[in-house]
Amino acid sequence: MTQSEFGRFSEFIGNQCGIKMPLSKKVMLEARLQKRLRTLGIKTFAEYYEFVIGDGEHKELVHMLDAVTTNKTDFFREPGHFQYLTDHVLPEYVEERERNGQRDRPFLIWSAGCSTGEEPYTLAMVLSEFAEKNSGFRFTILATDLSMRVLNRAKDAIYDAERLADVPIALKQKYLLRSRDRSQSKVRIVPALRSTVQFQRLNLMEEAFTFAEPLDVIFCRNVIIYFDRQTQEQLITRFCRTLKPEGHLFLGHSESIHGFDLPLRRLVSTVYRKTS
Ligand SMILES: C[S@@+](CC[C@H](N)C(=O)[O-])C[C@H]1O[C@@H](n2cnc3c(N)ncnc32)[C@H](O)[C@@H]1O
Repeated sequence: MTQSEFGRFSEFIGNQCGIKMPLSKKVMLEARLQKRLRTLGIKTFAEYYEFVIGDGEHKELVHMLDAVTTNKTDFFREPGHFQYLTDHVLPEYVEERERNGQRDRPFLIWSAGCSTGEEPYTLAMVLSEFAEKNSGFRFTILATDLSMRVLNRAKDAIYDAERLADVPIALKQKYLLRSRDRSQSKVRIVPALRSTVQFQRLNLMEEAFTFAEPLDVIFCRNVIIYFDRQTQEQLITRFCRTLKPEGHLFLGHSESIHGFDLPLRRLVSTVYRKTS
């Protein structure tokens, strides 16, 4: 891939999904796209570029974006966030619901950039545990990602057992099924928990993502770190529009919105609340 070809890909990817592609990522991009060239029988990157932009149905674009995303994730990643939900956000929600008499409305939470599902399934475990102790508490988890490859894995909900090391044993016993074939150390999330999460492909760069109802909480962790500052600010502005007044936003631990002009106040590190 020549430097000018890389420049064209980099600009195109930035416009499509917000992900920054500095020159230091050239070798990585080449290696990842090479697989698509082989699959399609295309000889050069220049030809592949023309193929992607000429594909009106955007089928190849989906594959290309699959190849450029970084999907590292874990169950109970950044565990303080889940504790914060249980200790502060959920009890306050229940109290407010009682006060306003809105008993029928489910708690709505969005895992934006959910990767292979570990984050939304962790939320599902935490919220199910809370529901057991708080009768009448109901919730819906929306989980979205740009990459179809990771979404398909999330929907399958099958994981290597060793990836669940950070899940407390009581939750493992309740929410995971061991593979019948004991030689394969695989586990699967139980159907009841799987049914609490709705997966969908959604590109966060799309101007108008809308939800039928304002959301109580957005988890968007370890996603905006790949975007430039301007894209980050525009995206979080749109998050604020989809949150209910006093709704919460959780970001990843290395992500900062310091210096942005947003209707958010910081509660603790990386946890924000929309100002009413
Ligand atoms: C590093 S993973 C983070 C997963 C999880 N939130 C966590 O913290 O463990 C980042 C995810 O963001 C997704 N992503 C990147 N750009 C996106 C975009 N424009 N729209 C939607 N998802 C995007 C990637 O596909 C990837 O799965």
